[in-house]
Amino acid sequence: MEKYVIRGGKPLVGDVNIGGAKNAAVAILPATILAGGKCLIENLPCISDVMASLQILSELGASIRMVSRSTYEIDTSHLDSTEVSNELSRQMRASYYFLGALLGRFGSGQVAMPGGCNLGPRPIDQHLKAFTAFGAEDSVEYGQIHVRSEHLVGGHVFFDTVSVGATMNAMLAAVLAEGTTILENVAREPHIVDLANFLNMMGADVHGAGTDVIKIHGVKEMHGCNYSIIPDQIEAGSYMVAAAITKGDITLHNVIPKHMEPITAKLRAAGCEVEEFDDALRIQRTGELKPLKLKTMPHPGFPTDMQPLMTALLTLAKGTSIVTEGIWENRFRYVDELIRMGASIQVESNIAIINGIEQFSGTSVTVPDLRAGAALVIAGLAAQGVSVLEDIVYIKRGYEDFAEKLTSLGGIIEEVETEKD
Ligand code: EPU
Repeated sequence: MEKYVIRGGKPLVGDVNIGGAKNAAVAILPATILAGGKCLIENLPCISDVMASLQILSELGASIRMVSRSTYEIDTSHLDSTEVSNELSRQMRASYYFLGALLGRFGSGQVAMPGGCNLGPRPIDQHLKAFTAFGAEDSVEYGQIHVRSEHLVGGHVFFDTVSVGATMNAMLAAVLAEGTTILENVAREPHIVDLANFLNMMGADVHGAGTDVIKIHGVKEMHGCNYSIIPDQIEAGSYMVAAAITKGDITLHNVIPKHMEPITAKLRAAGCEVEEFDDALRIQRTGELKPLKLKTMPHPGFPTDMQPLMTALLTLAKGTSIVTEGIWENRFRYVDELIRMGASIQVESNIAIINGIEQFSGTSVTVPDLRAGAALVIAGLAAQGVSVLEDIVYIKRGYEDFAEKLTSLGGIIEEVETEKD
C-alpha cells in the first residue's frame, strides 16, 4: 500500500502540462470497438482507469500496441468476446461504456455492475432506458448486466435526468443502429463533444453534441482513425486550486481555456488572478481568499468533480462559504478528513457551510475517493506540518504523475510504501 507524505506550507510555482481527459478517454477507448479496425489514440492520460480500459479491450481480443506513454494503437478488427470480465469491470465505473459499444457493434454486451468511487447511489436506469428505446433487452443476473438485440434501431429518448454516462452510452449504441436517433435532455460536458468528434472521425453521423439535443443518423459501418483526446478540465482545475490554496503562481499548458470558464469564474471571485492564453492559463494569488457561494451543476455549470477541491480552498477563505452539491447524493464524505486537519465545516444534507480558518494543520487522513483525494493533497500542501494520506490508489485512477508534477512545482510530497514507515 502506498501513501503520500506531504510537508505543507510552500507556494506552488512554475509550469505544468495537463494530460488528456480521463472522462473522455474512458468512453473513447470502448468506442474503438465500433471501428472494427485500427485507431491511433493520442493524449491518453497514464492513469489506472485508462490502463484498465486497455486491458478490457485486450481481453475482448483487440490487439494493442503502445506507441508512447500517451499514444496507443488499438486494432478491434477481430474481437472474440462480448463479455467484460468481472474483475476488470468492477474496477471502474466507466466499464459501462463497453455495454453501449458492444451492443452497437455485435448486438450483445455483458459487464459486471460497475464499481468506481462511492458517491452515493449510482443507478444506470437512464443508460438502459436508451438501449430499450433502440430495441434492446436487458437482464441482470448474478451481478452481471447483459444487453442484447437482434436488430438495433434508432429511437427517441428523453432522459429523465442529465447524465454524462447515459448520454455517451446512448451515443455508442446508436451510431450503427438503423435509422435516426434523437437524444434529448443530454449532458453537454466537453467530453461529450470529444466523444462525438471521435465517433464522427470513425464515420458516424452525430450532430448537436454540446447542446441539449443530439441527433444521430445510423451508418452501416465505421472505420479506424487517428484521434487526440482533449485536455482534462478537472486535472487542470485541480492545479488551479493548488496554486490558489498555496498562494502560488502556476502556468498550465495544454488546456482549453473555454472549458475552464466555470472554474476560472469562481477562482476569480475568490480573489485569484487568472490570465488566459490560446492553450495555456496562468493563475496566481497574492491577497486573501474571499468566501463564496457555489452549487455544482451539469456543464456549463460548476463541475461536481471540482467540489471537494473548492471546499478545501474555501476552508482558508476569510468568512463563511456555502457549497451545494447538485449532482451526487453523498459527495461530502471527505469533509470529516478536512475537519481532522482543522477545518470548520458543517454538512446538512447536500450543503456544506464552511467557516474560514487561518490554516490547516497536518495529520493522518484517509482518501475516500478520487477527487476528495486530490482535495486532501492540496489541503496538505497548504497545511502547517506533515500530512499523511492513506489509500492513494483512488488518486491514481484519475491523476497522472500527481506527486511528480506537484514536486516539480515546489511542493514537498513523497510517495512511500507502508513498510518503509
Ligand atoms: N443518474 C441516474 N440514472 C442514470 C445515470 C445517472 O439517476 O442512469 C444520476 C446519478 O445518480 C447522478 C446524476 O444522474 O445523480 C449524474 O450522473 P452521471 O451519469 O452524469 O455521472 P456518471 O456518468 O456516472 C461522470 C463522471 C463523474 C462525474 C459525473 C458528473 C465518468 C467516468 N465519470 O459520471 O466523474 O462526477 O459524470 O459530471 O465520466 C470523477 O471523475 O471523479 C467522477 C466521479
